[in-house]
Amino acid sequence: MSSPATATGLPVISEIPALRAWRDAERVAGRRVALVPTMGALHEGHLALVDEARRRAQRVVMSIFVNPLQFGPSEDFQRYPRPLDRDRALAAARGVDLLFTPAVEVMYPPGSETRVVPGETASRWEGDVRPGHFAGVLTVVLKLFHLVEPDVAVFGQKDIQQATLIRRMVRDLDLRVDLVLSPTVRESDGVALSSRNAYLTPEQRVEARVLNRALRAADRAWREGGRDAAVLRRLIEGEFGLSPGVQPDYIAIVDPDTLSPVPVAVTGTIIAVAARVGSTRLLDNHILGREFR
Ligand code: PAJ
Repeated sequence: MSSPATATGLPVISEIPALRAWRDAERVAGRRVALVPTMGALHEGHLALVDEARRRAQRVVMSIFVNPLQFGPSEDFQRYPRPLDRDRALAAARGVDLLFTPAVEVMYPPGSETRVVPGETASRWEGDVRPGHFAGVLTVVLKLFHLVEPDVAVFGQKDIQQATLIRRMVRDLDLRVDLVLSPTVRESDGVALSSRNAYLTPEQRVEARVLNRALRAADRAWREGGRDAAVLRRLIEGEFGLSPGVQPDYIAIVDPDTLSPVPVAVTGTIIAVAARVGSTRLLDNHILGREFR
């Protein structure tokens, strides 16, 4: 059931009863538990969430589960990378205390049909391009919350709409968990780390810089006093215009709670962009008033 401490010293549990037994023991010991949900193929962005989790709890559980429910029929569920041994070593080195790696049949046994239905906020932006995606995300995150019963859960700013919807679900369904939003980790050229960057050719990888370049241009204009969202949007469109290999899906200048467009950009306003480079979709965003990390 649970594989005992592996070569890395990091216990890995794939079954629910073993996870619950571990959780019960931590509760009896009075330790705070943090959860970092992932789909694996770990990179520095995921590992920074672990650092954040360790600052807030005595035990850190990382889940690795490529959730079929959040992939559309033409998306990359089958080819999504699953380097489990490498992930296990990276997680162990960073101080994860337990890996939860359930099989699809454990999370969705035959007959499983109940789903979380997100609200209006899920139908915009990513939800518009990926119908059903956020119902899949919220369903698996709710299940993980019930399985791990974490005191605190850490999510990345990189997927800002996902984090916003999880915050709303916690509020709407009265879940007892603290949420932490951890800043986006980037390569030295500004490109946000993403498992999907691996799909890019070297030329596309260079073109991908335009997302962050465009956000920085808007941030600069805002810091200089530019508040009109239409003007900021045109600036971003101008940057994308210089990179014809990258097609923007959307440029969203939005309220942080509802993700609805705002006419005037204020501190806390989110600028989120999504773009296609070849067949790969890339995301990035910036919260006005914050620093780029
Ligand atoms: P995944 O894409 O593996 O991401 C796991 C977590 O890492 C998410 O909270 C994501 O926002 C964060 N993350 C990814 N890249 C990051 C970066 N460059 N900087 C900071 N954080 C980053 O998001 C998912 O998995 C799934 O939807 C999941 C929540 C696990 C539900 O299946």
